[in-house]
Amino acid sequence: MEFILVTPQAQPHVALIQLNRPKELNALNLQLMGELRDALKELDDNDEVRAIIITGNERAFAAGADIKQMAGKTAIDMLNIDQFSTWDQIRKTKKPIIAAVSGFALGGGCELAMTCDMIIASETAMFGQPEIKIGVMPGAGGTQRLTKAIGKAKAMEMVLTGKFMPAEEAEKQGLINRVVPVELYLDEAFKLAAEIAKMSPVAIKLAKESVNRSFETQLDEGLHFERKNFYLCFASEDQTEGMNAFVEKRAPEFKGR
Ligand code: HXC
Repeated sequence: MEFILVTPQAQPHVALIQLNRPKELNALNLQLMGELRDALKELDDNDEVRAIIITGNERAFAAGADIKQMAGKTAIDMLNIDQFSTWDQIRKTKKPIIAAVSGFALGGGCELAMTCDMIIASETAMFGQPEIKIGVMPGAGGTQRLTKAIGKAKAMEMVLTGKFMPAEEAEKQGLINRVVPVELYLDEAFKLAAEIAKMSPVAIKLAKESVNRSFETQLDEGLHFERKNFYLCFASEDQTEGMNAFVEKRAPEFKGR
């Protein structure tokens, strides 16, 4: 891997992926995205991993897709490159992913953070979809996920003006989970990941899938989907362990079976 650093057990059961093109503010070129897709697939298949953190560095989570790589492309080049199949595969990761964001999360960087399941931000984080300023528009889910997260009026303004949203405002608008001082954002992400890693990996996977389903379905179908996943939890040893532990007044030990 040239553009990302992967630590499968950064903490017990928690993997860390660091985007690593610091000079280019972690601009997401095609190779980086391919590496990210492959790393996530590997971590998703690794039974020891129960939660994944994606981070950048203090200055930038990612300043967007690599403009220099895109600049000379035609529509047909873009169609043939089909970069979004990579993004679709990333979206299919079953384990929970936390984005730990400091500095710029712009364009594809903001879209990548929103593709994750939760976002912890440092107080220096800036979210934005500035594609409009370079004559294009968001292409990796920005118009959809941002609108669902913060509503039409705010999303429209960000997408049509390219204006950035600072972390504090992003928290108020419900785009992110919380803001912490810059020296703590990664610790806070690890804390959240550790909390999740204590739960049943089976139930976590099914719960993530169910919450995500709410973006794709009407209520009736979503409730039906949730119910099936709820029943499926009862096929796991973790359900027996969790409920027995409660009755026996002890901490459960989940095994992911
Ligand atoms: C390629 C980038 C880049 C990007 C920064 N760099 N963003 N290279 N693609 N998206 C490079 C700069 O060219 C520069 O390299 C170095 O990183 C440092 O950036 P500076 O501009 O010198 O830093 P600063 O003045 O602090 O400004 C930071 C910034 C600005 C405000 C974030 O870099 C910026 O506006 N970047 C572009 C943001 C953007 O438009 N993102 C959306 C991209 S389109 P050199 O070699 O010159 O020193 C997109 C589409 C997504 O994301 C859909 C498909 C996935």
